[in-house]
Amino acid sequence: MDTLEAIRTRYACRNFDGNPIPADTLRAIAEAGLAAPSAMNHQPWLLLVLKDKPLIEELDKAGMDILAATDPATHERMMGRGGRLFYGASGMIVILQKTGDTKFTELDCGIVTANLTLAARALGVDSVVCGFAGVVFEGDSGAANRERLGFPPGYDFALAVLFGYSAGPAGQPHAIDPSKIIEI
Ligand SMILES: Cc1cc2nc3c(=O)[nH]c(=O)nc-3n(C[C@H](O)[C@H](O)[C@H](O)COP(=O)(O)O)c2cc1C
Repeated sequence: MDTLEAIRTRYACRNFDGNPIPADTLRAIAEAGLAAPSAMNHQPWLLLVLKDKPLIEELDKAGMDILAATDPATHERMMGRGGRLFYGASGMIVILQKTGDTKFTELDCGIVTANLTLAARALGVDSVVCGFAGVVFEGDSGAANRERLGFPPGYDFALAVLFGYSAGPAGQPHAIDPSKIIEI
């Protein structure tokens, strides 16, 4: 797919059909993430590529349980969206950020995230960025899950992207607001 077409047609998919993503496709998406620019080329990230749907489902349940206990309003919102934090995704990439690196580390990881979603779109894989995945890995309640996925010392959760194939027709991306471009 043409790059601009991938950018224009990417949308947040929140209902995956559960079909597996070929391993080489997920690998290609992850490698596109690694091609992101970063401040001083520090590449202050690690990508945990989760290919095992039952594991993703277990983490989903753990996250919903944590939300129910710590953030009832968000839990209720997610229940209204089908009760699944990860929407039935069959693949997931957890982006870890190096602690104490440059002031641009979060931005660097955001650019990785953009690469991941756009590469997925180009390869016909639907995706959604998932900040809520943080509840599964952050703080005391997330310690066991961090250990389970082998978070190395010196790295924290930055963001996650969920992948799969839409259970329904392709969604529409948000409308762009041209007034946000100021030409000088
Ligand atoms: C940093 C970040 C965190 C996000 N976290 C979530 C999330 O936890 N759950 C979710 O369903 N969507 C999440 N989204 C997706 C946004 O809601 C979505 O991109 C936005 O509504 C625009 O829609 P579009 O991607 O379809 O254009 C997140 C997006 C970003 C950039």
